[in-house]
Amino acid sequence: MGFLSHLLILLLLCTISAESADPSGVFCNTNANISNNQISSNIDRLLPQLVQGTILNGYIATSFGKAENQVYGLAQCRADVTGNDCKTCIESAATEIRKRCPKQADARIWYDYCFLRYDIKNFFGEVDTSYGIFYANVQNVTDPDTFNKELGALIDQISSEAVVPGNKGNGRGKTKLTPFLTLYALVQCTRDLSQLPCKQCLAIAVDTFNFPNFCNNKKGCRVLYSSCYVRYELYPFYFPLDSQDESANSSLAYYVSAVSKP
Ligand SMILES: *[C@@H]1O[C@H](CO)[C@@H](O)[C@H](O)[C@H]1NC(C)=O
Ligand SMILES: *[C@@H]1O[C@H](CO)[C@@H](O)[C@H](O)[C@H]1NC(C)=O
Ligand SMILES: *[C@@H]1O[C@H](CO)[C@@H](O)[C@H](O)[C@H]1NC(C)=O
Repeated sequence: MGFLSHLLILLLLCTISAESADPSGVFCNTNANISNNQISSNIDRLLPQLVQGTILNGYIATSFGKAENQVYGLAQCRADVTGNDCKTCIESAATEIRKRCPKQADARIWYDYCFLRYDIKNFFGEVDTSYGIFYANVQNVTDPDTFNKELGALIDQISSEAVVPGNKGNGRGKTKLTPFLTLYALVQCTRDLSQLPCKQCLAIAVDTFNFPNFCNNKKGCRVLYSSCYVRYELYPFYFPLDSQDESANSSLAYYVSAVSKP
């Protein structure tokens, strides 16, 4: 509960649909400002390595530089996102993060397809849910009891899949709620996490679904943390993509967002 008490929530009604180059969220940690030019130059050298590694393997965790100027970086695409979508996303992330956080040695950027982060502190393997970004569909489901039961079961199932070795921290699946309505969900941990921390992060993210008057009973919701991503929708959004029902409200114009800060 202490977790909820220090949340600062900024509600913002999205009235324009986001362009693909717009990140879902950015965190520039102003408690970790760049203290010398060597750190700045190490970040500039690290970023191309993060881009290259992500294009090759969908994920990389590496560092650049020495001693107190060493910078640790992690970049990855959602495991269901491949090829050009991954490449385009991580290239944008590497460019945007320096524009948006020019003075910070701890910076993080989220997109739906990818995530990139660096820090002068070694964060590999650690669960970090200190900063969070949430998106909820403005519409409520019509039958919350059934919906929440099915959502809970689906999330449990795909969370178990995410920690199976070889699944790259990713679980995804769908449940037919009615002949005309299908629930889709996806979970993704950063791939530096082993099974237990991945599970912990997903559990915290899923708890956020019950966040008072935010995610609960909504037709769709996304929780973005530095260590994991969880999302469900009543339309297909993960790859391979099911054929889309054109009446689905997938535009971000139908979502509200909120941020939790450490
Ligand atoms: C970091 O820089 C920002 C301005 O860019 C400033 O507001 C903030 O106080 C600085 N943080 C520290 C810990 O000095
Ligand atoms: C959804 O449900 C909440 C809580 O019952 C209510 O306050 C809100 O107005 C509803 N939203 C819509 C779009 O009907
Ligand atoms: C999409 O959302 C808008 C605004 O809440 C609503 O008026 C419209 O009926 C929705 N369309 C569908 C197909 O759910």
